[in-house]
Amino acid sequence: MVVEHVAVRMPLSIAPMMDRTDRHFRWLMRRITRRATLYTPMIPARALLDDPHRPWVEPGEGPLVLQLGGCDRAELVAAARIAESLGVDGLDLNCGCPSPNAERSGWGAALMARPARVAELVAAMIDAVAIPVSVKHRIGLRGADDAEHLFAFVDEVAAAGCRRFTVHARAAVLGGWSSARNLAVPPLRPAEVHALARARPELQVVISGGILDLDGVRAHLGAAPLAGVMVGRAAYEDPLRFASADSDLFGDASAPISAVELGQQLRARTLAHVAGGGRAHDVTRHALGLWRATAGARRARAAIASLAHGGDAGDVLARALAVLRRDPGDQTRCQVEK
Ligand SMILES: Cc1cc2nc3c(=O)[nH]c(=O)nc-3n(C[C@H](O)[C@H](O)[C@H](O)COP(=O)(O)O)c2cc1C
Repeated sequence: MVVEHVAVRMPLSIAPMMDRTDRHFRWLMRRITRRATLYTPMIPARALLDDPHRPWVEPGEGPLVLQLGGCDRAELVAAARIAESLGVDGLDLNCGCPSPNAERSGWGAALMARPARVAELVAAMIDAVAIPVSVKHRIGLRGADDAEHLFAFVDEVAAAGCRRFTVHARAAVLGGWSSARNLAVPPLRPAEVHALARARPELQVVISGGILDLDGVRAHLGAAPLAGVMVGRAAYEDPLRFASADSDLFGDASAPISAVELGQQLRARTLAHVAGGGRAHDVTRHALGLWRATAGARRARAAIASLAHGGDAGDVLARALAVLRRDPGDQTRCQVEK
């Protein structure tokens, strides 16, 4: 069933995830869905300025949003201009990263305590580029995570011209908690994101956190006038779980790619990357999830993971492909390998 909702503009997006959603994972995900919006991981504005020619993005990735991290206005404006010149479809300012490093530098979730500063940064970025600028943030900072704070933050940033807010539906705990702990606790509070979407129909509110499959996506879209749903870890761990996203959510009639075809394309990309001087593991480390639900998956995954230490990528991937051919799995599955 195609989800019908006037406010839905990007029903599915794949979350920014540092160390995960680099161009190789995005390439894989783009073969699975041509429609979902993809995000780069947070790229510190300074890193983009220091190394603008690095292959941050590839042609044909869109719709793609580049997420910036930072809190210095001049750096963010300059980085936004570079990002726009790379051809991305939108920019996002990270206001949700709880890492002690980000906190020390005053970026990420720490910015939620300074809505006026975020408004100023976003206004400057909007002035600098022609593509949309959005903000991804937490429901709040622990101790200041009630509806009043959430609405005050969103309203102040919206007044600066921001229209899209992606809300990770859990509070951030600063003061030394690791990023990993901040992804498991405190508990998710999706109802409060739904309430925000209902109260601010003029804004595009996207929910993130704990959404495991397309049923979960549909449940959120049906529960509130959200502009979309963002999926992170579930898509990384088992990308083919989202193989029918284009037909189910976007009404796109083209057939989903099969695991075998994807495996073949992955092998070709890996070999091309190696021929260009790269390491096979750069590509293959993001593809272990393709072998999640196939018989013999464990050995194939172990062999692919061993490419971290070198080895013949062509041979390893040919053998792993044979496993997929024997048992391509069920692409509409939701099971997770035990
Ligand atoms: C390994 C990892 C890295 C992440 N890096 C970022 C990031 O760079 N920027 C960001 O806004 N959120 C980041 N997140 C948060 C995700 O975008 C997402 O909001 C969070 O994982 C909750 O969604 P999920 O339960 O679907 O994974 C990261 C999450 C993980 C697991």
